[in-house]
Amino acid sequence: MAADAQDTTFGGGPEHVAIIMDGNGRWAQSRGRPRLFGHHAGARRVRDIVNACPDLGVKYLTIFAFSTENWKRTQAEVSGLMALFRRYIVREARALHDEGVRVRFIGDRIRLDEKLVAMMDELELLTSGNDRVHLTIALNYGGRDEVTRAAKRLAYEIEQGRLTHKDVDAETLSRFLDTHVLPDPDLVIRTSGEARISNFLLWQSAYAEYEFVDTLWPDFTPEEFARVCDGYARRDRRFGAVKA
Ligand code: IPE
Ligand code: IPE
Ligand code: MG
Repeated sequence: MAADAQDTTFGGGPEHVAIIMDGNGRWAQSRGRPRLFGHHAGARRVRDIVNACPDLGVKYLTIFAFSTENWKRTQAEVSGLMALFRRYIVREARALHDEGVRVRFIGDRIRLDEKLVAMMDELELLTSGNDRVHLTIALNYGGRDEVTRAAKRLAYEIEQGRLTHKDVDAETLSRFLDTHVLPDPDLVIRTSGEARISNFLLWQSAYAEYEFVDTLWPDFTPEEFARVCDGYARRDRRFGAVKA
C-alpha cells in the first residue's frame, strides 16, 4: 500500500507486526551450547507469539527466519537450519491450522531444497482458507532480492507488451512483490539489541514504526510482545503530513 494512501488518523494497536527474530546464536553460546540449540529454542518461541496475536488485535505477523545473506554461515549451520524448517512444518502444521492461522512464505524458493519447497506449498494450501491470523514466514528472503525479482517480472511484462513503461509506478511495482497480498507492516520489532534491518521488508517498511529490544529471540515472551504493541499504540504516525 502506498504511504500517501494511508490514513493519518491513528489509534489502537498494530494490525501488521513484522519481527526480525535475532539472537538465537548468542542465546545458545551464553549457555555453552551450539548455535543450532538456539535455533531450536527460537523455533519453539514462534508458537507463543503467533497465539498471542488475536488478543492483541494483530491480524498479520511476518517473521524473518532466513535471509539471502544467511547462506554465508557454515554449511553445518545452514543445513541444520534447513532441517529445522522442515521439522517445524511437520510439527506445527496441524496446530497452526487448528488455530485458524493462514501461513504464507515469502523469499526466493529457487535456492531451497525441493522437498522443503513442496512442504511449504502444502502448508500454504492446507491453511489457505484460514483468516484468524496471517503468518508470513520469510525464508531465503532479502528486501533487495525481492525488489530485484519484482523489477525483472515487471520488465518481462513490458517486453511481452502487456504493460508499458507508463504503467510503472509504486502501486504497479508493489503488485510484483512477494508481499503483494499483505498490508504494509505497522511495526517492525528486532530482538537481540542490534539496531539494523538487515535487508528485511525494505520497500514495505517505508513508514513502519521500529522497536529494537535487547531480549534475545528465544527469551522473547508474549508479555514483552504485548508491551511493545502497547507502546506502538501511543506513537504518533504522520506519514509526512502535519496534523491539523
Ligand atoms: C537469528 O539468530 C536466526 C537466524 C538468522 C537464522 P542468529 O543466528 O542471527 O543469532 P545471533 O545473532 O548470532 O545471536
Ligand atoms: C537477520 O539476522 C536475519 C534473520 C533474523 C533471519 P542476522 O543475524 O542474519 O543479521 P546480521 O548479520 O546481524 O545483520
Ligand atoms: Mg543474528
